[in-house]
Amino acid sequence: MRSYVCTRCSNLLELVKDGPVSRSGLYGEVGQPGVWRFRKALPLEAEVKAVSLSEGGTPLVLVSRVAAKVGLKWLYVKNEGQNPSGSFKDRGMTVSVTRAVQGGAKLLVCASTGNTAASMAAYAARAGVTAMVTVPAGKVASGKLAQVYAYGAKMIRVEGDFDAALQITLKAASEIKELSVMNSINPYRIEGQKTNAYEIFEQLGYKVPDYVVLPVGNAGNISAIWKGFKELKEWGISSSLPHMVGVQAAGAQPIVEAFEHGRDSVRAVQPKTIASAINIGNPASWKKALVALRDSKGIALAVTDEETIAARMELASTEGIFVEPASAVPLAALKKLKGKIEKDATVVCICTGNGLKDQESVKVQLDSTPLVATPEQLVSLLAKTA
Ligand code: F0G
Repeated sequence: MRSYVCTRCSNLLELVKDGPVSRSGLYGEVGQPGVWRFRKALPLEAEVKAVSLSEGGTPLVLVSRVAAKVGLKWLYVKNEGQNPSGSFKDRGMTVSVTRAVQGGAKLLVCASTGNTAASMAAYAARAGVTAMVTVPAGKVASGKLAQVYAYGAKMIRVEGDFDAALQITLKAASEIKELSVMNSINPYRIEGQKTNAYEIFEQLGYKVPDYVVLPVGNAGNISAIWKGFKELKEWGISSSLPHMVGVQAAGAQPIVEAFEHGRDSVRAVQPKTIASAINIGNPASWKKALVALRDSKGIALAVTDEETIAARMELASTEGIFVEPASAVPLAALKKLKGKIEKDATVVCICTGNGLKDQESVKVQLDSTPLVATPEQLVSLLAKTA
């Protein structure tokens, strides 16, 4: 495996590319929708064939009813659950797998709380290479495990948390050179994920939102989206930057803690949250996340599992958008921030993963569901509710 850490400053490496010099240069040629539409902003040679499942290009939905409840007018959901494997990970995976396969990789590996694993497995299948994932035993939602199996990846369970899984996976990859790591320490992942910022800017009518609110786990996505907005500004395509609002679960909030105390390092914690995707105590991209939060004059806050579950149900039952628990933390955070964000601000919540992936945490009360056998019974039942 190649090293992704700078030997001088020990920060994770970042790719830099001269950008398109104009808006039409970035958005002009509409070929394939989604991530590869922004090929000019991706650090890959033009002739490289993409390993793609048509990822990105997800809807930005105005959620006025939920907005009213949190004291806002212009609240949007970027529904990343509509990506091919059901999460935002596909944006980064299409780029990192394309790069790996171009370099001759045959064996892809990642540690994961579930979504990275599902996504990598899908793209490995698409590329015809072998995928091997490590997951924290007993801590991954069953929908994600089902995906990993269906896509034909090899799965290894690790005793401990995601942090332990990542650590031993990186150690193995440092000793076995055939392994290509697809975690977000791989800078090509960040390149793919930054396209979310380009899409949001376009979908808002070439306007930068005032706030971008998103869940933070291993902290790759907040780094990526911040990079995307910064590039738009550096290239002269936009003229402002959003405030980044990073949300963690109360039981796994090392970045919130470091941000609040103004510290330049995070203290690893033993994570515990129902939002299993972000059950992470020692995030790999913490440095970049702190930079994004500080440079954007952003906000970092944590929400409880109860607040997360309530927000998840509210988004589904009020707006018809069913997300997994980790993807509901932005809405839970906005409830806490009610009155602190200007009423007419444009706010985008990144809803990172599809609700169908994690059904364990929805308690379906089948026993109290009416059961009928005849048309008369159904008519009488419906008449009562009509
Ligand atoms: N939301 C979902 C649904 C996720 O799966 C993850 C991360 C995040 C948010 C946080 O993103 O790590 O870039 O800060 N899931 C990883 C995984 C860790 O293995 O699937 P992040």
